[in-house]
Amino acid sequence: MASSGSRVVDIHAHMYPPAYVGLLESRQTIPLIRRFAGAKDPRYIILPAEAESLEKINQAGATATTTQLPGRPVTTHYSSLQQKIHFMDTHKIDISVISLANPWLDFVAEAEAAETARSVNREFESMCLEHPGRLFFFATLPLSAPAEELLAAIDFVRGLKHCRGVILGTSGLGQGLDDLRLIPVFKALAKNGLMIFLHPHYGLPSEVWGPRATEEYGHVLPLALGFPLETTIAVARMYLAGVFDEVPDLKMLLAHSGGTLPFLAGRIESCIVHDGHLVREGKVGPKRRTVWQVLKEQIYLDAVIYSEVGLKAAIDASGVDRLMFGTDHPFFPPLTSDEQGEWESMTWNKAAVEKALGEGSQGTLAVMGGNAIGVLQLKEDA
Ligand code: URA
Ligand code: ZN
Repeated sequence: MASSGSRVVDIHAHMYPPAYVGLLESRQTIPLIRRFAGAKDPRYIILPAEAESLEKINQAGATATTTQLPGRPVTTHYSSLQQKIHFMDTHKIDISVISLANPWLDFVAEAEAAETARSVNREFESMCLEHPGRLFFFATLPLSAPAEELLAAIDFVRGLKHCRGVILGTSGLGQGLDDLRLIPVFKALAKNGLMIFLHPHYGLPSEVWGPRATEEYGHVLPLALGFPLETTIAVARMYLAGVFDEVPDLKMLLAHSGGTLPFLAGRIESCIVHDGHLVREGKVGPKRRTVWQVLKEQIYLDAVIYSEVGLKAAIDASGVDRLMFGTDHPFFPPLTSDEQGEWESMTWNKAAVEKALGEGSQGTLAVMGGNAIGVLQLKEDA
C-alpha cells in the first residue's frame, strides 16, 4: 500500500450484495436481473428504454444468439467482494468507499423497505469488517418506508462503524429533493455528520432521446447526458427551495463532478438575478448565498468525469480540496481487453487529475485520496 501522503481512495465504487441481487432476480418489472438462454451472464435491466427492448424480446422469444440482449451483463464484478479487492489491488487503490448502486431501494414496498435497508446496510458493514482499513461505505436509506422508520434507519446506520454517509437518488420521497418533507431527514443526516452521496438513476424522459436512440445509440445518451443533467436539476431545485440555507451543515458529494453544475452555475446565477418573480418575492437580497458559495461550502464533487476539461471546471467551482477521485466500478468495464486487467475508468480519471493538477502535485495527491481520507475520516480506528 502507498504511504499516507499518497494514498488512493475510490469514493465512487458500487457493490450489489448477493441478497440485493436475489431481490432483483425475483422481479418482473424494472429494475430486474434476468437470465437468457445462451448468455453466459445474467443481464441487469434498469433503464426504461431497456424495458422496451425486453418486452420485444419476450414477445419474439429471442435468445442471446439471435438478438442483442437488453441491459448490461451482471459479472462477478457486481457482487463479489474478492473481485472488488482484486480491482483495487490491480489499480493500486488503497481504500474504497462502497455503495449500493442505482436504483437502491427506491422500488421496495413501504412495508418491507426498512427491514430490507437494515439487512443491506448490515451486509455492507460486514464486507468492510472483512477488509479492515480498506473499505468504508455509504449506506442505503429506506425512502419508501414511513417517516419514523426512515429516521430510525439513519440512527441505525450512524452506529455502524464503517458507515460514512448515505447514497441517495434524486427522487427523494417521490417528489424530488426539494420536497420539504425531506428537511427532517437532511437535518438528521447533517446532525450525525453523514454525508449524502447524490447519484443519478432516472435520467430524462425517453422522448428526449428521439426515436432512433434505443436501436442505434446504445446507452450513450441516458448515461452520458441524462445522468449528469438529472443531478444538476436535482441540486438546482434544492438550491432554489432554500434547502442549503435551511440545513447549513448538510454536506453533499455529487456524482460525476456535479453533473453539469460547475459549468452551468454562472447561468443559474444570471437566471436568478434576472427573475422578476424571485426578485419580487425578496429572494434575491444581499444576504443570499450564491450557487458559487454553496458549491464551495456544502458541496463536494467526485472526479468521475474522464477528462481534464470537465475536471478543471469542477476544481474552479468547488476548490481542489473538495474533489475526490472515483471509478464507478463495476460499471464501464473494458470491452476489448481482459476485465481482470486495467479499466479505463481508473486510467482516464487518474490521467484527468494529473493533467489538470500536475503529476505528483499536492493537488493531485489531495484529489486522489487525501481529501477523502480527511473529509470522511477514513481511518480504521476513527
Ligand atoms: N450506470 C449505472 O446504472 N449506474 C452507474 O453508476 C453507472 C452507470
Ligand atoms: Zn455510480
